[in-house]
Amino acid sequence: MSTDVDLLVVHAEELATPAGRGPRRGAEQDQLTVIRDGALAVRGGRIVAVGTTAEIQARYRAAIVHDARGCFIVPGFVDAHTHPAFVATREREFDLRLRGVSYEEITRQGGGIFRSVDDLRAADDATLAACLRGHLRGFLAAGTTTVECKSGYGLTWRDERRSLELLAREAAALPLRVVPTFLGAHQMPREFRDRRGDYVRELTTQMLPEVKRLGLARYCDVFCDVGAFTVDEARAVLMAARDLGLGLRIHAEELGPSGGARLAAELGAASADHLIHVDDATIDAMGAANVTPVLLPGTVFALAKKAPPARRMIERGLPVAIATDFNPGTSYLQSPLLLMAMACAVLRMTIAEALTAATANAAASLGLADECGALLPGLSADAVLIRGGSHQLLGYRFAEGPIERVLARGELLDPRAFGAFGAPPLPT
Ligand code: NIG
Ligand code: FE
Repeated sequence: MSTDVDLLVVHAEELATPAGRGPRRGAEQDQLTVIRDGALAVRGGRIVAVGTTAEIQARYRAAIVHDARGCFIVPGFVDAHTHPAFVATREREFDLRLRGVSYEEITRQGGGIFRSVDDLRAADDATLAACLRGHLRGFLAAGTTTVECKSGYGLTWRDERRSLELLAREAAALPLRVVPTFLGAHQMPREFRDRRGDYVRELTTQMLPEVKRLGLARYCDVFCDVGAFTVDEARAVLMAARDLGLGLRIHAEELGPSGGARLAAELGAASADHLIHVDDATIDAMGAANVTPVLLPGTVFALAKKAPPARRMIERGLPVAIATDFNPGTSYLQSPLLLMAMACAVLRMTIAEALTAATANAAASLGLADECGALLPGLSADAVLIRGGSHQLLGYRFAEGPIERVLARGELLDPRAFGAFGAPPLPT
């Protein structure tokens, strides 16, 4: 007797998944389950069973059967750190950096995040919504089925609020799982330059309680670094967020040894991200406090920075995650395939470790280990069908890797219908 389900995906050259739910540490991060001639059964948007095609076809039948010959299947990618609420690109700054002007100097001159803040504040809701829509569709087309999205280019209540509200509205129209994060502490707004404490107070006593009351974000993040927020300012913001019941994330040790990773350990943050300048004692403190390191090799690549110590983190038992950091300043990257290639080549992670970092461990860092990040019964039916015969093409084959189908919450999508990278932002 076979059981009726909604969808079968059969005859994948390989089905490859982290062998269990995240967080996966140490040697576990390198362990995948790989099934040749793999298949999946899906019902009600969840994975019912995973196995060989023969096993699945013996037990299940469905009106829709998708033949995945010529493709391998991996879990839908989970991008645990992105900044998609922006309306214009900043390629001129990239060119300036190539001519020797530093990121910090560009910020001091009023560019950088300030530039994107000016652009967003000047944009009407329709423009901001169109840009968000394009970015979200770009993630889905690239194979990302869960994405953490930060605000942070508004820095006024009006502009932070509409960033998060429009994000929620656009997300609701797609089968993409969006995890919203409030990043009102992305940069000290110009108008508060000489009274920094007033902005921190506005964040802690006004914006954060409203974010919570309106249910606009699940996490709060702070850019704790040279030229952004100090450790004491970050502590004040994150403690207020924690008191309200929001989860904590932090940008730390990107531009210099900021002390942000220590703070993440002290506060029990869900993640500390970037971590270029972190030392072994701090890695151990993060491990003891269950802070997931989220590494962002696209930013390392575009800023030509030194790589964060991914291998030492894995050796010391931390469940390393990777993310694109998609943003207009330091990482115009949406592709999880190129992200994986950079994790292998730049961070020296194995292909299996990088896949776990971009799926199960990223999901765990978002509190979603029981929802997504692996191809296991009971989890959301999120998967990517990529042309090729082996999951080891990931990382090896750089960005290239034709995505045939994206399975998002049980819905089988043709990414070509989404346009290769979604709608581009409006020209500046
Ligand atoms: O993660 N570091 C802070 N935020 C972004 C860059 C933002 C920007 O330059 O617009 C990052 O790299
Ligand atoms: Fe970032």
